[in-house]
Formats: sequence, structure tokens, C-alpha cells
Amino acid sequence: MIVILTGAGVSQESGMAVFRGAGGMWENERIEDVATPDGFARDPKRVLDFYNGLRRRLMSGKSKPNPAHEALARLERESKRPVLVITQNVDDLHERAGTRNLLHMHGELLKARCTACGEAMRWEKDMLLEDCCPECAKKGSLRPDIVWFEEMPLHLEAIEQALAACRVFVSIGTSGNVYPAAGFARHARQSGAHVVELNLEPSLGASVFHEGRYGRAGELVPAWVEEVLSGTSW
Ligand code: OAD
Repeated sequence: MIVILTGAGVSQESGMAVFRGAGGMWENERIEDVATPDGFARDPKRVLDFYNGLRRRLMSGKSKPNPAHEALARLERESKRPVLVITQNVDDLHERAGTRNLLHMHGELLKARCTACGEAMRWEKDMLLEDCCPECAKKGSLRPDIVWFEEMPLHLEAIEQALAACRVFVSIGTSGNVYPAAGFARHARQSGAHVVELNLEPSLGASVFHEGRYGRAGELVPAWVEEVLSGTSW
């Protein structure tokens, strides 16, 4: 099995901002304010507005899958081995490119979750304080279906099984700041996988990888996929 972990860098060339570094979203917004349960309890409108802005950008015609997303979808279609993409991204660009075997470990921007009845549902428009849950009709109970800091990432059991079973693990466009995702490469390597990093620059955990290639995902990923499919890589 080939397991791919993606982060914000894979969507950067699709017009979605990364989180850290120059121009990153966390330069203008504090994580505590917009990406924690306490921040939401303190000022829900501010949090909804932050994700409304991201959702609008994603829904605007300008954000489209780039060659990195497309290459990963091609890998899933054409590889003889099963391919699993685990993404930390909350956008839907992998799906739009055609990837099917996909786990959104940090939730999805195009979903709302009701804090009263627990249902999650597709949500493409702005989320407002006065919105009612389409399932239970309660007013003011919706939140973005995003995993915030201090909350438990999704699909950890399936991810654990995949990391233990994979032959190749590739980390793409992630800075290695946020656990548990930042620990997946070490885990896969300890289980015997060949581990590769494709990123603009060495990530925090770069020394864990057998191989690192540095540059833009839109160029590195198609080249790597071509090598894997033609049998010239690892
Ligand atoms: P970061 O913003 O921390 O890191 C993005 C990485 O992508 C950096 O190492 C960049 O160098 C690299 N990068 C930027 N542009 C690139 C490009 N065109 N091609 C290749 N690499 C590029 O984003 P993540 O590591 O994904 O969590 O952040 C992890 C989590 O922290 C996010 O899921 C989010 C955030 O807080 C939550 O919201 C819960």
C-alpha cells in the first residue's frame, strides 16, 4: 500500500493559503481565536466569519485542483498497489481531482456539524449564528465540521492500520508542526516503509525521511508519480 499525507502546501498553487511562514494564515489570525473550542465559545461570529472567508475562496471559481492533486488521483487510478491519501486539508481539491480513497483527518470546510444533534451535513454557503440545523431544527447550533486544536483528529484507527501496513509513505506540503500527523512518517518508517518528503523546504521532521525532494508540489508530485508508475522509483 502507498500512503500519502498531504498538507496546506499541496493546495497552495490552487490559491489556498498555507498556515505558517510568510503570508501564512496564522500571521493574521491567532490559533486561539479561530481554531479552538474556547475561541468559538468566546466569539462564535468571529470564528464563523473566518471559515466563511475560507469557504468562499474555495467555492470561487479560482480554486481548482492543481497538477499535484491530479497526479495523486492518477496514482490511485493507475497503480497496482492500493493508494490511500490522508489529508490535513479541509478543502475538497483532492476529491475534485478524482481521488476516492481519502481521509480528511482535520474535517471538511464544506460540512457543518450540529452541536445539538451531532449530525454533519454538506454546507456550501456562509454559516450564520441564526442558522437552524436542517436535521433537528435547533437554532444557533451549527459549527464548521473542522477539527480544532485540543480536539481529536478523525479516522485515527484507520490511519494507524494504514501506517502499519504501508510499503511507501509520502509526506507532501506539510511543515511537520502539528501532531499526530507530524509523527506519521516516523511511525511508517518504524513499520518498515520507505518514507519520502516532497515539500517546498525541509520540514521540521526532515531527518526522518529516507528521501527529500524540495520545490513546488505542482512539479514534484507529477514527476514522482510518473516514476512510481513506470517502476523507476523506490
Ligand atoms: P503549514 O502551513 O504549517 O505548512 C505548509 C508547508 O507547505 C510548508 O512546509 C511550506 O514550505 C510548504 N509549501 C508551501 N507552498 C508549497 C508548494 N507550492 N509546494 C510544496 N510545498 C509548499 O501547513 P500544514 O503542515 O498543512 O490544522 O499545517 C498542519 C495543520 O496546521 C493544518 O491542517 C491546520 C493548521 O493549523 C487545523 O486547522 C486543525
